Amino acid sequence: MIDPQTIQRILDTADIVDVIGDFVSLKKRGANYMGLCPFHNEKTPSFSVSPSKGIFKCFGCGKGGNVVNFIMEYEHLSYPEALRYLAKKYHIEIEERELTDEEVREQQESESLFAVTEFAKNFFIESLYNNLEGMSVGLTYFKERGFIQETLKAFDIGYCPGRSDEFTKAALKAGYKQEYLVKSGLTIESGPRLRDRFAGRVIFPIHSVSGRVLGFGGRVLKKTEKAAKYVNSPESPIYHKSRIVYGISLARKAILKEDRCYLVEGYTDVLSLHQNGIENVVASSGTSLTEDQIRLIKRFTKNITIIYDGDPAGIAASLRGIDMILEEGMNVRVLLLPDGEDPDSFSKKHSSSELKEFIIANEQDFIHFKTRLLSEEASADPIKQAGMIRNIVGSIAVIPDSITRSVYVKECSRLLDVEEETLYYEINKIRRKQVDKKMRNYRKMEENIVAPPSKRPQPVRPEQMSAEDFEKELLRLLLMYGSSQTMTVGKKPRSHTISVAEYIINELHADGLEPGHPMPKIIYDEYVDVFRNEGKVDLKHFVNHADPEISRFVADLVSNPYVISKIWSKHDNHPETEEMKIKQIVPNTILAFKNKKIEEALSRYSKELKEAQEAGNQDLEDHLFEKVLQLSRIKREISLKIGGRTIQPL
Ligand code: CTP
Ligand code: MN
Repeated sequence: MIDPQTIQRILDTADIVDVIGDFVSLKKRGANYMGLCPFHNEKTPSFSVSPSKGIFKCFGCGKGGNVVNFIMEYEHLSYPEALRYLAKKYHIEIEERELTDEEVREQQESESLFAVTEFAKNFFIESLYNNLEGMSVGLTYFKERGFIQETLKAFDIGYCPGRSDEFTKAALKAGYKQEYLVKSGLTIESGPRLRDRFAGRVIFPIHSVSGRVLGFGGRVLKKTEKAAKYVNSPESPIYHKSRIVYGISLARKAILKEDRCYLVEGYTDVLSLHQNGIENVVASSGTSLTEDQIRLIKRFTKNITIIYDGDPAGIAASLRGIDMILEEGMNVRVLLLPDGEDPDSFSKKHSSSELKEFIIANEQDFIHFKTRLLSEEASADPIKQAGMIRNIVGSIAVIPDSITRSVYVKECSRLLDVEEETLYYEINKIRRKQVDKKMRNYRKMEENIVAPPSKRPQPVRPEQMSAEDFEKELLRLLLMYGSSQTMTVGKKPRSHTISVAEYIINELHADGLEPGHPMPKIIYDEYVDVFRNEGKVDLKHFVNHADPEISRFVADLVSNPYVISKIWSKHDNHPETEEMKIKQIVPNTILAFKNKKIEEALSRYSKELKEAQEAGNQDLEDHLFEKVLQLSRIKREISLKIGGRTIQPL
């Protein structure tokens, strides 16, 4: 449990641009920041962060909220977990009590799995440094391979003792359930026996972007052993190997800083490069590179350099990777190491500066890489030559951006001495085929993900809006403009200005109205309270409210703009912003809200009237009839004032 004051401190301290900036590359656009949405796949940014409102919103997929909601969504954390994450980032201390048995039981499955992987990570680290076997076998192994302790510590490297169930026993003793030990893959059930999946192996924990342990890789120590060199955690609710790249949590800062990511194959490659001063490095770890992995990297940079082994398998993997990376609209370079070397062995033989110089001097764009590679085979054979050109053109054709394509066409033309026109002819042929295929495959999906202007929500007419819609709309106006905008009231010589908040509160109060639906009412009441006490209400008071339901509700509210449609009337070539029209919008919305309330009352009275008639209750009938007439008159007046306005989303 985190106490409310601490929650408030965390919310007040956390800077939304800073927090999201750790995961998404954001560019300033006016008052806001834009980036590629981390929650759906997109090519042009529709993810926006507003530092002044303290919210994020994706106009593509609709996800939005405050800084805590972002972390919850992105890292799949619970509310308290997300707060803990932010507290850690901003060095805010949280005094926590031990969880009760009850609460432990109640924890979500993934939380239980995270608890298990965290315990395992610490157990393995402990075993590497403090257990005799760990030190003599594990630590010695790493020392012989030239890894220093600083590197091992940075990556949480550990050791799993060789006795077949030492880890499982310790975990059970510490109170972790067999169910989760098995589900996480750390423990294998064979009949009645339990054994450790990683027994006798050195351990490479695999971290999420924010540094939580998702799973493990374990390496055997001796080359002679028959067992597979690496064993990895199986797929589990928290570990999906195709969606994570190894080393990302340590690398992400450096990737953002360098605006480049080095992509290698193995765990030890990452460790070695890191140890040798190159920290913006991640590994695809044994799986052939996936789209999800590329997109994960793309959140931080558009530039990838592949450094795979120089052997045929490494080259083949590089070739596959190139097209996938290009297809994501990213830039790719390839560094071919001398045959027989991998990034690990190579960086062990060279100093940090030599390594960096070597990379700069030898990394090539994909055209040079392919040309060099293929021209060795093709040499003087014209048929093979044509094949090579087609191969390179095939890669250019998958690049989504036409300007980038044309740059590569120029380069390719020069390098291979082929007319640009010929290249374009081939490229267009390929692209037409691709487009057809893509359209067929993705039409459905795309529609659901990115709403083009024609797919935006239809204008909402007041008739279609419920009382709750109006309550929310009034709240939104209060929250957005209550303290910052004014209204003029009274007739000319004696007119004066009051804040929008005062105006709305007075207007509703005068007719004995207030929001009646639970969330709007709670927020409205608190708004009025704060307003009366402090004379103004900061939007952040609600966006960063300690009650997560309130903060979420408000963040949603203020990121979905509605305006009176008159603003966008067909005759108006210069649509004005909502702020400029606020003096009309506010009274109209209040009128429409009153109208709605009257409609509701009318239908209630009409029903009662009918019942009174049927029951033959003359007095009641007269009374209700009077009421209905009166309300109908008011309704007519209001309708005249509102005219034909509609309320419409921006
Ligand atoms: N890998 C795996 N399972 C295997 C072999 C490899 O998961 N049986 C993955 C590991 O993530 C490994 C990567 O593929 O790091 C690259 O494999 P390899 O080059 O064989 O291993 P290295 O990382 O070079 O390991 P080492 O340097 O210790 O030999
Ligand atoms: Mn290796």
